Amino acid sequence: MALKVGNTIDIVTESRKAITVWEKLIADDDGIISGTRSYVMVEALNEGDICQVFKATGPNAETVVAKVCRHEADNDLVENEARIIPKLNPTEAKEEAFFRYIPKLVESVPWEGLQVNIITYFEGWVSLADILKAYPAGIDFKDAAWMFKRTLAGVGYAHTKNIVHGAVLPPHVLVHPIQHGAKILDWSYAVENGERHISAMSTDYAAYYPPEVGAKEIPTSATDIFMIAKCMVALLGGNVTTNAMPDAVPKALQSYLLDSLQEPYRMRPKDAWDLHGSFDELLKIIVGKSKYRPFAMPVTT
Ligand SMILES: Nc1ncnc2c1ncn2[C@@H]1O[C@H](COP(=O)(O)OP(=O)(O)O)[C@@H](O)[C@H]1O
Ligand SMILES: [Mg+2]
Repeated sequence: MALKVGNTIDIVTESRKAITVWEKLIADDDGIISGTRSYVMVEALNEGDICQVFKATGPNAETVVAKVCRHEADNDLVENEARIIPKLNPTEAKEEAFFRYIPKLVESVPWEGLQVNIITYFEGWVSLADILKAYPAGIDFKDAAWMFKRTLAGVGYAHTKNIVHGAVLPPHVLVHPIQHGAKILDWSYAVENGERHISAMSTDYAAYYPPEVGAKEIPTSATDIFMIAKCMVALLGGNVTTNAMPDAVPKALQSYLLDSLQEPYRMRPKDAWDLHGSFDELLKIIVGKSKYRPFAMPVTT
C-alpha cells in the first residue's frame, strides 16, 4: 500500500470493500469510456500500491494496461504519473534508444471519480518482485548484473530530464529474461526539478528507502541510486535492512553496492551513467569478458 508521507490514510480497508467494483468492471462490455474511445478490461494483472492493474483492449483492438486508482485520495499520484511520463518522451534522436526503458502513456481518463492511466502493456516481462518471489534465496550475480545495468540506464535517462523516479522498487522494474531489457514502471511518485519532497512511500518496501524520503527532503538522483542498490542487494539474496550479502557475492561487488547505500545522500554516487561505466570496469575484473546468459523463471502451470 502507499502511505502518504506525513499522512496516515489507510487505503487497504477501502480497496477490500470495493472488490466487487473490480469484478463488475471486468464483466462490463463497455469498460472505461473516454470520449468516443473505450477500454474493455480483459483480466486483472496485479494490484499495485495505488491501482488495480488490468490488461485491457483499446479502441483499435490494441492490448494496453489500465491502471485504475483504488481510492480518490490517491488520484493525485495517478495524475502525477500521467504528467511525468510524457516529459520522458524523447526530444532528440539520441534519446530514442533510452525511451524503450519507459512505458508510453496512451491517455489518462477519469472513471467514476477514479483516475485511470492507460499505458503500454509489456507481455512476457517479469518484475524484480516476481523474481524475488521465485528465487527467495537470490539469483546469480551475473544475472543480477545486467538487470542492474539496464535499471541504471532507464533511471539514468530520466535523470537527464531532471526527473527523479522516487520509488525504484522491485515491483517497478520489469526485465525481459531473454532480451535483457528493462522497463521502469510507476512514475506516480516522481519529482521533476527538485520541486518538492516525495509525497508517498510504498510501505511494503520501507527498507528500500533512503532516509531523505521519510525526512521529506528534496530527492536527488542519489535517492534513486540508493533504491537501485537495495534492489540489487535483494536480488543477490542479501538482507535489505542490514545490507549483508551472501558469501557467494564477490567482495568487490559487495563494497561497490555499499558505496551507493550510504545514508547521507551526499556520500553516494549521484550519476547513474558514471555508475554504469564503473560497473562495467568492475565486471571486467570480476568475471572477465561478458557472456550472454539467458535468465530463466520457473515454469508455472
Ligand atoms: N505496463 C505494464 N505491463 C505489464 N505489467 C504491468 C504494467 N504496469 C504495471 N504492471 C504490473 O502491475 C504492478 C503494479 O504496477 P504499478 O504501476 O506499480 O501500480 P501502482 O501505481 O498501483 O503501484 C507491477 O508491479 C506489474 O507487475
Ligand atoms: Mg507501484
